[in-house]
Parts: sequence; structure tokens; C-alpha cells
Amino acid sequence: MNMISYPMDTPASTCLRAKAAQVALEHVMKALTPSSVIGIGTGATVEVFIQLLKHSGATFSHCVSSSKRSSAALAAAGINELPIDQCDRVDFYVDGIDEGLSNGTTVKGGGAALAREKVLATLAMSFITIADSGRLKESLGEFPLPIEVLPAAELAVLRALQSLGGNPIRRKNCVTDNGNLIIDCAGLDLSDSTATELSLNSIPGVVENGIFSRRKADFMAFSDESGVEWFCRN
Ligand code: 5RP
Repeated sequence: MNMISYPMDTPASTCLRAKAAQVALEHVMKALTPSSVIGIGTGATVEVFIQLLKHSGATFSHCVSSSKRSSAALAAAGINELPIDQCDRVDFYVDGIDEGLSNGTTVKGGGAALAREKVLATLAMSFITIADSGRLKESLGEFPLPIEVLPAAELAVLRALQSLGGNPIRRKNCVTDNGNLIIDCAGLDLSDSTATELSLNSIPGVVENGIFSRRKADFMAFSDESGVEWFCRN
């Protein structure tokens, strides 16, 4: 596999991300076939993965993207993409995370793409996450939970989240690719993450929330200055 060499002035965060992304790519390459479909998440980390994929020489069918942002990054890299609404199969889904536990539970949505990300992660045979080790946690909840909400339901959902003990704030200047808004909610109890994921989605007007507990990651790579730690469930 070809390795990318980064210029000397590359930000340290990019180099750190690249280490985890490289391990994720090697994991994917072990089972990649010419008919494989690769799902692509959203954010700075997965954009590093896109660059590595571009230079890997990997042979696969196509990618499917979770956002306009990632579609633009795939197009810039010259990687073939099929629109998400034509996608009924994903072999590998690769994405960044905002927080994660070693059991595969994650919180996502910092890039406002959580709804499409969850569709692709749930569809995928294998869900692979990449992050720096600061995002590996003992418990979830430090990162305010992103929740995608119908614009018409903003006030109703804010009130419902407050009644659950949360401190919700509408994200400024943010419209999702689905035309919705994002509420970031601190203060929720995420100790039973599956129950909270389900109960938040039962609030009328909530489109999706950023807890990925029912669909846990299968392979997680976390990088720091000394190397990459990874967890594999399957
Ligand atoms: C987007 C996400 C991202 O994967 C998450 O926010 C991490 O982003 P980055 O790689 O830019 O730190 O969930 O909705």
C-alpha cells in the first residue's frame, strides 16, 4: 500500500488523525473486494481517510457519502460515489466520532450529519471509527449531544429536553443537509445509552440523535503521539 507523506507544516492534528485512519484503511483492505461499497462519514478525520483511500490503490466498487461535505471531498479526490438514496448495501462504513467507549458505543454529530451517518452505519456490515485518543472515554456525556430536529418543533423539543434535565442549545448558523436544525444538549444522563437513544427519538420533532448505541462500532482506532490503539468487536 502506498503511504502519503505529509509536508513538514502539516498540523499535528492531521498527522494524528492520519495514524488512526491508516490503521482503519489497513483493516478495510484486508476484506475489500472489487464489488465492495465503502460508506464515508463526515468531518476532518474522515477527510484524511479519503486522502489515504485515494492513494492506496484499493480496488472497490464505489463510495456512498453521509453529507454534501464528504461528497465534495470524494469528488475532489476523484473517487466514484453513488448517492445515498440509491444505496441499499454498505460493506464498510468509516467515520470519525466525538466520543466513544471501548465497547463500541459512540456519540456523533459534531459535523451535523448524524442522521445520514446513522443510516449508513446501521446498514453497514462493518462500522469502523477513527479518532484521536482524547475521544476515548470511560463514560459518555462530556460532549453535548447533537440532536437533529424539525425546524417547526424547535421550541417543543427544547422544552422536552429541559424536562429530561438537559441544557439544550440550538446550534447557530447550522442547517443540516436534510433542511433541519441541530440542538446540542449537555447534561443528559447517558449511562444507559441505548435507552436514552430510543427515548430521545420518541420525542415528536426529533429526527435523530447522535447516540450510536444500538449500532455499535465494530472496529475503533484511536491514535496518540505514541501510536494507535484499536478495539475490534467482530
Ligand atoms: C459528523 C460527525 C463527525 O464524525 C465527528 O463530529 C468528528 O468530526 P471530526 O473528524 O471533524 O473531528 O459525527 O456529524
